[in-house]
Amino acid sequence: MRVFVTRKIPGEHLAGLEKAGHEVVVSLFDRPLTPEELTKFVVGADGILTLLTDGIDGDVMDAAGPALCVISNYAVGFDNIDVDAATSRGIVVTNTPCDEVNIAVAEHTWALILSCARRVVEADEATRRGAYRGWEPDIFLGTSLKGKNLGIVGLGRIGKMVAQIAKGFEMNVFYYSRTQDKEAEKELLISHRPFPKLLASCDFVSLHVPLTDETRHMINTKTLSVMKKGSFLVNTARGPVVDETDLVSSIRSGHLGGAALDVFDNEPNINPELYGMANVITTPHIASATRQARHAMGKMATKALTDVFSGKKPENIVNEKVWEHRRK
Ligand code: DGY
Repeated sequence: MRVFVTRKIPGEHLAGLEKAGHEVVVSLFDRPLTPEELTKFVVGADGILTLLTDGIDGDVMDAAGPALCVISNYAVGFDNIDVDAATSRGIVVTNTPCDEVNIAVAEHTWALILSCARRVVEADEATRRGAYRGWEPDIFLGTSLKGKNLGIVGLGRIGKMVAQIAKGFEMNVFYYSRTQDKEAEKELLISHRPFPKLLASCDFVSLHVPLTDETRHMINTKTLSVMKKGSFLVNTARGPVVDETDLVSSIRSGHLGGAALDVFDNEPNINPELYGMANVITTPHIASATRQARHAMGKMATKALTDVFSGKKPENIVNEKVWEHRRK
């Protein structure tokens, strides 16, 4: 089978596909492809291995041709793929949810929460520019986490891991999700709160929802104004969940205490005002960037391709209902 890979990925996984007898064509450009390049390069592919930076719509699928039967996304989030378009064409879509990615993202979330609370990035910047004059009683005062309220928006696997880690800091953990999870409440000692109530009562709010029509810009002027004064927003989910312009206004006004963002509304562009804000931390979409996570992602993404090629239903299928009427 012919597999087009939109960008080289770390590890030996692609070599494994070749060893299994597949023809693997990797984009020669070490960058996201333009829509024109994508439609040109996918021609004749039976499978595509895509990254979250590739927009895969019906046009790209049609450009690939009738043999295309699987799109394997090298990410947990799959908002870059028009899943309905794939389903209507009988094309299987898969993603890479796994413990390694969940752990990586949950740990990065905590790196950001701690960095906000203890002003780590600001303090590091001051030290490097020579501002350290020895111990002082009143510099870079932060906040302790113990006894503070953490609000988790979206209680999927990553949200739950973030809650689990919060126990070690003796925080009170609340969550908002469309459906209440009684089992998780018991196991993690957390409680459900309606969204506005969670925003109004939490010192740290961490986002863990997928990007959908419902969650796009769910953090906006209205919801930001409900957030507790001086609280922090952490986003390791998807950038467009937050209206970045509204966030900048809220921080500028002094309402929010700060924000830590791993993802952005219009990646790779970042609202330049954020760079000038000492109480904002930005990381370049690296929450899942651990060697362990990348290895697991490569393994899962390539296994999904070989599973579909051999008629086996992959465990990480996104559009479950396509299976019975998939293209063969
Ligand atoms: C994912 O898997 O969706 C992550 O955002 C990748 O870093």
